[in-house]
Amino acid sequence: MSARKSPKAEASALRAEIREHDRRYYELEAPTVADAEYDALVARLKALEKAHPELRSPDSPTEKVSGAPASSFAPVKHARPMLSLDNTYNEAEIRAWGDRVLKNLPPGDQPLYILEQKLDGLSCALTYEKGRFVRAATRGDGETGEDVTENARFVGNVPLELKGPGIPEALEIRGEVVLFFEDFKTINEEEQRAGREPFVNPRNCASGSLRQKDPQVTKRRHLKFFVHSYGDWKPDHAFPGHSAFLEGCRRLGFSVEPFTKAGSIDEVVSSYNAFRDEGVAKLPYAVDGLVVKVDSFAQQKRLGFTAKSPRWAVAFKYPAQQATSVVRDVEFPVGRTGAITPVAKVEPVFCAGVTISSVTLHNFEEIERLGLHLGDRVLIERAGEVIPKVVKVVERKKGGRAIAAPSKCPDCGSPVVKEEGLVAYRCDNVSCPAQLRRTLEHFASRPAMDIVGLGDSAVDQLAGKGLVKDVADIYGLTKDQLLGLELFADKKADNLLAQIEASKAKTLDRVLFALGVRHVGEKTAETVAERMDLDALLKATTEDFQAVPDVGPVVASSLHAFFASKAGKDLVARLRKAGLTMAKPERVIAAGAPFAGMTFVFTGALTKFTRDEAEEKVKALGGKASGSVSAKTTYVVYGEDAGSKLKKANELGVKTMTEEEFQRMLP
Ligand code: IVH
Repeated sequence: MSARKSPKAEASALRAEIREHDRRYYELEAPTVADAEYDALVARLKALEKAHPELRSPDSPTEKVSGAPASSFAPVKHARPMLSLDNTYNEAEIRAWGDRVLKNLPPGDQPLYILEQKLDGLSCALTYEKGRFVRAATRGDGETGEDVTENARFVGNVPLELKGPGIPEALEIRGEVVLFFEDFKTINEEEQRAGREPFVNPRNCASGSLRQKDPQVTKRRHLKFFVHSYGDWKPDHAFPGHSAFLEGCRRLGFSVEPFTKAGSIDEVVSSYNAFRDEGVAKLPYAVDGLVVKVDSFAQQKRLGFTAKSPRWAVAFKYPAQQATSVVRDVEFPVGRTGAITPVAKVEPVFCAGVTISSVTLHNFEEIERLGLHLGDRVLIERAGEVIPKVVKVVERKKGGRAIAAPSKCPDCGSPVVKEEGLVAYRCDNVSCPAQLRRTLEHFASRPAMDIVGLGDSAVDQLAGKGLVKDVADIYGLTKDQLLGLELFADKKADNLLAQIEASKAKTLDRVLFALGVRHVGEKTAETVAERMDLDALLKATTEDFQAVPDVGPVVASSLHAFFASKAGKDLVARLRKAGLTMAKPERVIAAGAPFAGMTFVFTGALTKFTRDEAEEKVKALGGKASGSVSAKTTYVVYGEDAGSKLKKANELGVKTMTEEEFQRMLP
C-alpha cells in the first residue's frame, strides 16, 4: 500500500481488499493470504480509522468483521476429546446398530433410547466455575478448539450465572450453537441491502458469527445454544442417565431441545419416519438427522467408545436434500491431467441450504445413463458437503439438444481423445494452458508446496503472460516480472517471492505430491518418500515402486513413467538447480515425544491391556509410569473397581480418565 495515498483512499482500498479476502475465505473457501497478512490489513484499517474518525463507517469491516481466521483465537485443549457420531442412513442400518447395542449389554438389559434432533450448527463446550460462566470453546479438531468466550457471552440463551439449587463446583457441558431460520433470513436481507454477499446457510452464518472477533456482531446475530452432551460435572452428579442430565441442565438455566423416548428400535423407526415426513419441516432451525442415545449412564459405560464416537449413540440421517431445476448449458472444464468433466449449468435453485447453479455430471457415460438433453428438468441432490449431482431427468424438453463430448479442447483447441477402457475424455495437448493452470494451482496448493499468494488469479496472470510454462519456472520469477502484472504491488510481490523461497525447503513427500504424478495422492507420496530418496526415485524400476507398501501396479507404472521420462528427469533437475532441497521427510511422530514430561498411574482392573502393557506404552511414548498418586501425577487411568488411588486423585485434583480415554490418547 503506497504511503502517499490519501487516508480516505487508503481506507477505501483496504476495505475492498479485506472484503475480497472475507469472500474468498468464507464463501470460496480458497483464501489467498495467510491469516497474519489478513490480520495486518485489518489492523492497518483500524489504525487509520482511529487516527481519522471521520473515516469511520458502520459498514466498515472493522465494525462488522464477517469472519476472523481461526488462528486469531487462543487454542483450548479439551479435557476430554469432543467426539463425533457414527451415521446410519436407513432402517437396516439403525436396526443393525440396535442389535450391536443389545449384544454388548447383558441379556434382558433392554435399553431406553432418547431421541433428539441432530442440530445443524457448530459444537461448543461451555465451562462454569461455581456457577459462573468462564469459558467457551469450539470443537476445533476434537482435541483442541478455539477460545470464543467473549463472543459466547452474547449467544442469547447462554446463562452467565447458573440457577440453583444444586449448582456444581465445576461444570462443562457441550451443545450446539445454531441460528434460527427466521434470524438467518433477516441477517441475509440486511447483508444484501448493504451490498454484501449473503451467507450460504444458517450453519455457515452461525459459525461465522461465533468465530469472528467482535462480540457486538455475535450479539446482533441472535445465536442460540442447546445442550446435547455431557462434559464434566463436579462433584459427581447422581443422574442415572442422559435424560435426567438434560433435565438437570434445564434446571440450571440452559436451553435443551425437546427430546422423546423410545423403548425399542421399532419405536425409533416410527418416530424417525414421523419426523422426516412431517416434524422436521415445522422446526425453526436446520437439522440433518435424529440422534439416538442410550439413556442409562451405566449402560453407556458398558458400551463405551470406538476411536471416534460413542457406541451408545448414533445419528440416523434424514435423506439428502433434493430439488429440481432446468439444465441451460453444459460446460467442459479441463482438469490438471487433461480430463474433461462435464458440468451442467442449471437455473439457480435453493437446495440443502445453498443456492446451486452448477452440477457435476462426472463424465459422458453419466450423461448417456441419464439420457440428458439441454432444457431437461432434472432432480438434483446435494448430500451434506458433497458436490451436487443430477439424480435423474424428471421432465424432458421436447426437441432438446443432445449433449456431445467436445471434439476439441475448449481451452486450447487440441483434439480430445478417449483412452481405451477409460470413461474420461481428455485434452491430448501436454502444453494445454488450462492443464498448465490447474497444474500450477495444484503445485502451489496448501497440502502441496503451500505457496500462499499463488492462487487462481496469480496463476492466470503468470501463465497468461507466458512467464511460467511449468512448475520449475515459478522459481525463476523476479520482482520486476511480478510488478509488471496487474495483481502485484510492491509488498505483494515481496510476499510471494518470500513464499516461493520458503517452499524450497519442503520435504520430498510434499514435492512428490505437488508434481501431480497421476494416481499419486498425499498418502502415497508420503509412503514412497519415506522409503526412497530423490536419487532412488530417479533410478527406480516399476518393480522397485511396487515393493513399496500400498503401491499397486497402476501407481507404480505411473511413477515409473514420470521419473524415467526425459521430461520428468529434466523437471526434477531444474527444481534441484533452483535450490529445492527435497529431503526425505522425518517420521512425524518422533518416538518418545507425545507423553514427554507426563506421569501416569494405572489403577483398578484394566480390560484392554495388562498393567505392564499399559506402562510399556507410556514409556515408549516418553512418559513415566508410577505406582502411587501424588500432586505430580499427570493422569490416573482407572479400570473397574478402582479404589483408593482414584479417590486420592480426585482429592488432589489430578486428572482421571477411563481406559478407553487413555486408548484414544495413543497415536
Ligand atoms: S451428541 C460424543 N446430540 O453432531 C458425541 N450431537 O457428528 C456427542 N450434534 O459434534 C454428540 N446435534 O456437534 C449430539 N442432539 C445432538 C446433536 C449433536 C448436533 C452434532 C455435534 C457433534 C456432531 C457429531
